[in-house]
Amino acid sequence: MIIRNGNVVLENAVVKADILLENGKITKIAENIPANGGAELDVSGLHVFPGLIDMHVHLRDPGYEYKEDIESGTKAAVKGGFTQICCMPNTDPIADNKVVVSYIKHRANEVGACKVHPIGAITKGEKGEQLAEIGEMKKAGAVAISDDGVSVKSSRVMRLAMEYASGFGLKCLCHCEDKELVDGGVMNEGLSSTIAGLKGIPRAAEDICIARDLALAESLGVPVHICHVSTHSGVRLIRDAKKAGVQVTAETCPHYYAVTDEIVTGFDTNTKVNPPIREEIDKQAVLAGLKDGTIDCIVTDHAPHHVNDKNVEYNLAAFGISGIETSFGFAITYLYKTGAMSLSEIAEKMSAAPARILGLDGGKIAEGSVADLTIANLDEEWTVDPANFVSKGKNNPFGGYKLQGVVKYTIVDGEIKYQA
Ligand code: DOR
Ligand code: ZN
Ligand code: ZN
Repeated sequence: MIIRNGNVVLENAVVKADILLENGKITKIAENIPANGGAELDVSGLHVFPGLIDMHVHLRDPGYEYKEDIESGTKAAVKGGFTQICCMPNTDPIADNKVVVSYIKHRANEVGACKVHPIGAITKGEKGEQLAEIGEMKKAGAVAISDDGVSVKSSRVMRLAMEYASGFGLKCLCHCEDKELVDGGVMNEGLSSTIAGLKGIPRAAEDICIARDLALAESLGVPVHICHVSTHSGVRLIRDAKKAGVQVTAETCPHYYAVTDEIVTGFDTNTKVNPPIREEIDKQAVLAGLKDGTIDCIVTDHAPHHVNDKNVEYNLAAFGISGIETSFGFAITYLYKTGAMSLSEIAEKMSAAPARILGLDGGKIAEGSVADLTIANLDEEWTVDPANFVSKGKNNPFGGYKLQGVVKYTIVDGEIKYQA
């Protein structure tokens, strides 16, 4: 296939070019590639990004298929422009062994619209006690380990996990949360929690755990990845650690760089997420961290839930936002159109960096690279309506938001897997 006349987002520039795809690879990028009798796709006026990669997704399969499954989750992913996703192990059963990890890989091969890379659990049952079979899970296809949803409470167990994981060439993806400090909180602790009369979660609950995991990684001399950074103080801890040579990478999500906890005072339970949406100072620090490289990548933490998990009092609602279909529009609207970031920087945060962090194929548009592409109209405006999501999870608090940036084609291994 030849993709004609696209504005191609390269590492340091956007150039007008044709792209030749052959046997699942990008084989040529040039002006006016001669027709070869194969398929042609004219994308004049559109932008061509390296296939987006979301390294933090909850697919809920096995066990919670009423919230999402591998088929619905990957169809939602390609609609959102994602060609590869990594799924968290907090399923039922927990993905803490090679059987569940290989089930996910096999099921994704059967029904998946995009590539799926399972993340294995750090501890058996995510209970924080015994290490899971890290080597076996790696052999079965796990690309990292995480107890996402909870923190590994014991510093001793976490240290052991980091040491073992690094021996297998895997990173720990750390969900940083001191549960005792959270103490039943449901939103960020601050003015908005006072106004709402809801129990707050202090920044320190996240920061203490970030600091611990940085200290463990530093003392062991191994890499670590910090999940969904939401606090200004957490950004500072990671920035300082990077300066000191700690091998740390970090991610954030659209709801931390684009909005503040004022949206929680409307009591929409779809704003309830862990870590919680924080304040302006945090939002600004997250943006600055993205800009200066402290925060390496953008993930969605796509956390689909059933309406019954959300249609309850705020205190009782499940934590999580179904965000895989709005992430690209958020990046274009809140990062590119505001002038905060270039398209090449967005491609770095949403494709190149996650590929690098986990050692995945892809992440850039270059001759010889895998033919994973996301093609979008950056000037088209749309209004978010969760009722229209492909994901089973309609729990997204941004209904009614006007976003720019519409994914038109998602191409995986040279095949069009989504077309608007
Ligand atoms: O909001 C969240 N939802 N945060 C997590 O860490 C877990 C996730 C989930 O699994 O629903
Ligand atoms: Zn988490
Ligand atoms: Zn998560």
